[in-house]
Amino acid sequence: MGIAKIGVFGLGTMGQALALNLAEQGHDVAVTSRETAEIEALLDRAGPLADRFQPSRSLADFVASLPQPRSVLFMIPSGAPLDDMIARTRPLLAPGDTIIDGGNADFNDTRRRQADLQQDGLHFVGMGVSGGEEGARHGPSMMVGGSDHSWAQLRPMLESIAARFLGDPCVAHVGHDGAGHFVKTVHNGIEYADMQMIAEIYGMMRDGAGLVPAQIADLFQGWRDGPLQSFLIDTTIRALRTVDAETGRPLVDLIADRAGQKGTGRWTVIEALKLGQSASTIEAAVAARAWSAEKDMREAAQLAFPQTASAAIPDPQVLADALLAGRILSHAQGFRIMQVASEAFGWQLDLARIAEIWRAGCIIRSALLDDLAPALRDDPPYGHLILSPHLHARLTTSLPALRQVVAAATVGGLPVPSLAAALGWYDSMRRGRGTADLIQAQRDIFGAHGFQRLDRPGVHHGDWAV
Ligand code: 6PG
Repeated sequence: MGIAKIGVFGLGTMGQALALNLAEQGHDVAVTSRETAEIEALLDRAGPLADRFQPSRSLADFVASLPQPRSVLFMIPSGAPLDDMIARTRPLLAPGDTIIDGGNADFNDTRRRQADLQQDGLHFVGMGVSGGEEGARHGPSMMVGGSDHSWAQLRPMLESIAARFLGDPCVAHVGHDGAGHFVKTVHNGIEYADMQMIAEIYGMMRDGAGLVPAQIADLFQGWRDGPLQSFLIDTTIRALRTVDAETGRPLVDLIADRAGQKGTGRWTVIEALKLGQSASTIEAAVAARAWSAEKDMREAAQLAFPQTASAAIPDPQVLADALLAGRILSHAQGFRIMQVASEAFGWQLDLARIAEIWRAGCIIRSALLDDLAPALRDDPPYGHLILSPHLHARLTTSLPALRQVVAAATVGGLPVPSLAAALGWYDSMRRGRGTADLIQAQRDIFGAHGFQRLDRPGVHHGDWAV
């Protein structure tokens, strides 16, 4: 083996998968972990690739085995454990070295860590890695933050291990400091909304039309080669087709309806609000996961308020079109947040490139992203994808379906919070004269907050009726 160009610290599922991917692409990799068993597990699993690994049992040996400028990739939880490891590693490093965090981190922490390490001439890269274990092993999509210096060092390695879309590696240096983790956070927010909207359509088919999982899978199957083509639709079909070996029942019917979350969807919503935006489709998806936790309460409420109306479920094609409209709108919200963040943090995010690196490897990869990339390249008016001429025809044909589906669900008492949020946002954003005039009047009446008039400049107060 030659001299390792990168070190991977943390050999859990994702760390191992990335280390093996790097080795397979011909890179020599220094590896270590706090868990000795993980090092052994990697070497056992590596087979002929084991020669590419340079294992160390101590942090000092691990760092010393890397040539300067060093690249140390941490694949450990991004909270306190990472801060602890940074504190231990820092004295062993030299100016010009780079620490990379490949976990899902709050980009505010990434910015803090970057500013802190910069004081010692060290570089810190927050790198979003999407695609789960399979992606990390055979080709993830990666969103890289940090300095140009670190990118120059990492680029050849990352391009070699990334997923490829028609030959184009799905990795980019999206911007400085926390930009990589911010973009990954929004990716996950869009992932939450997409999963939720798919689940809402599933709920309409199951609870409104009385279909069983295999029948629902058949309908999703019919959509998988059209404009809805995506990893998450494929994943849904797999979920619906799987039968529990013990009971012979569809597995999904046996899974508790309580969804977990690690926090990235919530971070997207929080950051959007801080930026004066609202990712309402994502917000609804985060809320739906939170509500799902209150199962006992929901069961009690079902008894207290039983379903009275029966739902008339629209045709499958209408459901598919509605899902597509919802997907377009949730992506439009996600890209809008990134644009506003880019301006706020001076990142100069290339949104079209971000769409391009999401076309393969990541969880939200879909046919739609291939259409969004040119739409973003042409700078949509006012920074909103819904005004892009590239999407106009698609939106005008799919929006009536979204309206029909949300209306049917509402009348039938079926919950579609994310789809309804998408529609509510669209209807708000396409109305030149909204209703905030009344909000301003109310604010002025009770708080003398003042308002602007349409017919003259300045700030005014009303002589309000009593
Ligand atoms: C990815 C995924 C990945 C993971 C999330 C899920 O891009 O590979 O987003 O990061 O699946 O941790 O997040 P929740 O646990 O919050 O659903």
